[in-house]
Amino acid sequence: MLNDIRYEYFESVDSTNDRIKSRAHEEESQGLVISAGQQTAGKGRIGRKWESPSHDSIATSILLRPEEIKLDSIPTITVVAAMAVRDALYRIYGLDGQIKWPNDIVLGGKKICGILTEMEMKDNKVWFVVVGIGVNVHNRSFPEDIAFKATSVDLELEKVGGGQGHREELTKEIWNSFKKYYNIFIETQDMTGLKEEYEKHLANRGNRVRIEDRENSYEAVALGINDKGELIVEVDSEERIIRTGEVSVRGIYGYV
Ligand code: ATP
Ligand code: BTN
Repeated sequence: MLNDIRYEYFESVDSTNDRIKSRAHEEESQGLVISAGQQTAGKGRIGRKWESPSHDSIATSILLRPEEIKLDSIPTITVVAAMAVRDALYRIYGLDGQIKWPNDIVLGGKKICGILTEMEMKDNKVWFVVVGIGVNVHNRSFPEDIAFKATSVDLELEKVGGGQGHREELTKEIWNSFKKYYNIFIETQDMTGLKEEYEKHLANRGNRVRIEDRENSYEAVALGINDKGELIVEVDSEERIIRTGEVSVRGIYGYV
């Protein structure tokens, strides 16, 4: 169970995930959250870069020490975190985001949040897990290579009549929401208690998507998720399971 959450804030760090990792090595207990105004080496999945320019966005990570967790339940934590961010954006701002499986929240076809889960093992067991969340909040523009697929809380609020995001408030709402979903997840170490709600918000459910892994790129229809939080797709009338890892799921006409 995740109970108390303790917050620390830094003006600038390399990566909040890396800060959490060093504290985990110093035997810090579960529930520490480190947030930063700016990251100089923000990381995305698969060695990609995450842009978190000065004080425009949220960069926040939590330390988890799940007891007796199975290794193959770890990727599911990303899926749980995506639900928490979606829920927080909806509850504070009424922004009705969708989850682009496995790790992105999208609004109006553009990405507002990315999630990176990392873990370390010791004595053949999961030693700790870090969940890092990046949310674009005040950003009004983005580097050229991501401008077509990135949005922010302020840009989305503008479309529905205005308002501004608040980084501290949103960060706290995200982790409170995460606590709620994570404690449901940890009971069974899977998505049985959360699957129904997750699927309501799954982007492209019932639609054609393009699956891109290291070797192949093919079209499929996204059907939903299974209890492990893996994506179920249909290809040539047969169901296939897509596991997280080096795989991207895109809309066939663009990013979502
Ligand atoms: P996927 O490959 O899963 O379809 P993706 O292109 O979003 O999705 P991810 O690995 O989930 O890939 O996220 C990392 C990517 O996010 C980076 O390569 C970059 O294109 C993009 N990115 C980096 N910073 C931001 C940001 N602040 N907001 C939105 N997108 C960003
Ligand atoms: C992605 O979309 O590929 C994941 C992006 C994750 C970004 C967050 S920002 C806070 C934490 N620190 C990092 O270096 N990355 C994550």
